[in-house]
Amino acid sequence: MADLSLIIRPEAPEDAPAIERLHERTFGPGRYALTAYRLRERNGHRLNLSFTARVGTLLIGSVWMTPVVIGAAKALLLGPLTVEPPFRGRGVAGALIERALASARDNGHHLVLLVGDEPYYGRHEFKRIPKGRARLPGPVDPARLLVRELAENAFDGVSGAVRPDWDA
Ligand SMILES: CC(C)(COP(=O)(O)OP(=O)(O)OC[C@H]1O[C@@H](n2cnc3c(N)ncnc32)[C@H](O)[C@@H]1OP(=O)(O)O)[C@@H](O)C(=O)NCCC(=O)NCCS
Repeated sequence: MADLSLIIRPEAPEDAPAIERLHERTFGPGRYALTAYRLRERNGHRLNLSFTARVGTLLIGSVWMTPVVIGAAKALLLGPLTVEPPFRGRGVAGALIERALASARDNGHHLVLLVGDEPYYGRHEFKRIPKGRARLPGPVDPARLLVRELAENAFDGVSGAVRPDWDA
């Protein structure tokens, strides 16, 4: 990112309309049918754990983090992650992910879950969840259900239904 001065910072309430437009352009109305959306829709993402990327005043990327549980274990659901097309391929998403993971760890979280492409998220140490160990409230391709441990062996012994974390 030497040629852009990228600003990554926690999401603020006034970012909502720009992020909504970014999601609409990227995922379209079909996004509401995605299983991951069901986990987010009633117990929303946390602004202090979610981040925006800006160049100057222009919002060019966003990542959301939403508290969930996997069985009895607390976790964060990462996503959506989006970067404006002209700014892709320059490490913006990577910077958003690493900032969100560091912030999650600093706030005492040990597990981050997502539904996404393993070839991409594998770069950030996400690993495929063994089939059947985490059940989402709708259909998900098991090859796309990934977890990142923020503490050693944090996923050992964790299994069960993934639900919103109402206590978070
Ligand atoms: C996926 C996305 C967030 C990546 O943003 P970005 O800022 O370009 O990402 P980075 O610069 O950190 O990484 C880019 C690299 O990842 C690769 N990459 C991007 N998407 C990939 C995917 N789905 N699978 C494998 N590799 C991928 C790029 O080819 C590029 O590779 P290179 O470094 O070898 O050139 C962006 O393309 C996007 O918004 N896509 C649409 C929304 C989406 O699919 N979001 C993820 C699911 S929620």
